[in-house]
Amino acid sequence: MRDIAIGRIIEEETRRQDEGIELIASENYPSRSVREAQGSILTAKYAEGYPGRRYYGGCAYVDEAEALAVERAKELFHVPYANVQPHSGSQANFACYRALLKGRGRAKILALDLNDGGHLTHGSPVSFSSDLYDVVFYPLGEDGRLDYGVIESRLEEEMPDLLLTGYSAYPYEISFSTLREIVDRHNALHGTDARFMVDMAHIAGIVAAGLCENPCLYADAVTSTTHKTLRGPRGGIILSRDMELGKAISSAVFPYSQGGPLEHVIAGKAVAFGEALHPDFQEYMKAVLRNTKAAAEEFRRLGVRSSGTETHLFLLDVLSSYGLTGREAQMRLESVGITTNKNMIHGDRMKPKDASGIRIGFAAATSRGAKEEDAVRIARLIHGFLKGDIGGEEAREEVRSILSGWKDIESLEYPTIAC
Ligand SMILES: Cc1ncc(COP(=O)(O)O)c(C=O)c1O
Repeated sequence: MRDIAIGRIIEEETRRQDEGIELIASENYPSRSVREAQGSILTAKYAEGYPGRRYYGGCAYVDEAEALAVERAKELFHVPYANVQPHSGSQANFACYRALLKGRGRAKILALDLNDGGHLTHGSPVSFSSDLYDVVFYPLGEDGRLDYGVIESRLEEEMPDLLLTGYSAYPYEISFSTLREIVDRHNALHGTDARFMVDMAHIAGIVAAGLCENPCLYADAVTSTTHKTLRGPRGGIILSRDMELGKAISSAVFPYSQGGPLEHVIAGKAVAFGEALHPDFQEYMKAVLRNTKAAAEEFRRLGVRSSGTETHLFLLDVLSSYGLTGREAQMRLESVGITTNKNMIHGDRMKPKDASGIRIGFAAATSRGAKEEDAVRIARLIHGFLKGDIGGEEAREEVRSILSGWKDIESLEYPTIAC
């Protein structure tokens, strides 16, 4: 690296990541191979269009890379259509709404209450989604879980054009087959054509590993990021079981909402999909679920108010457990090398900038080799430190001790399929 300023920043960030316990549920460590693809000369290539139908010459090799990413995504998620060009999860949602709702005027979307775990692009007042669409909401049930009866009633009341599921901070499994039945029943009753979309950004790795219902088999279209549990480069994808809709998705991505695709990132996606197709990826995801459950159960055993978990994440109510806002808890933990994020919890009365909770996930820690014993140690450490029983120096020492058994992030490589 010849740029001294950026070189130093990368070095310091590498050290920060190496010397910390990463519990942000939306983060993970891509392999060295994914990062090599991302840092490759493919970044120099303009390739507007799709493989075999580009607006530029010289696309033979990036065509191969993109075609491989598409084939692997299709195999991984059992769909006939995959678009690997969205630059991010938000871009994927933007294009997918367009493809599903084009020609409906100012269409209406029914999404989860944002305070209950939805994403900004699911109707936040500060996002394009509420600017371009009328977004109405369904709440979680009393127990913090989806209430399918309530979703069905909200469909009846609102008669939306689109039902949106898949969330940023929902710790339980989702029955996509039940939601499909609800939408089909609703459409049959009213002669409507409400669409069903899933944003599986958080759980894509669990889906890829076959450890929960595959939304691609039930939804009209599915969007995802590639960098969370899926462990790829930062980016987005859109999948569909409907090839006709696929055509609308293709043009909603390019040329409607994006220009030249990031072929270096697409090559990184292909590498990550190859890793996720390897049988070891299922073992990795099982370990993520085991670790998350072990930590959540330990918090409950210690008497901390927290959600349960059936995924890679859970939520801690730090306000009622420790008298700290989510923001304060996040900052305190960061001071001893544990990275989390403040998060709204079910029924939260705080503003999002403070929040009453923090979100904890084990996808990244498990990539470095965290085991259930580590997850339990981490839960005890967070509890002791936030309660004030463990001091800063002791907490930092325990972080170092836990990390001493983990792999360093620069050298991480995962098994991949033979081509
Ligand atoms: C459910 C969900 N969808 C979409 C996104 C947006 O992804 P990106 O940050 O790549 O735009 C996120 C990001 O956290 C998410 O949690």
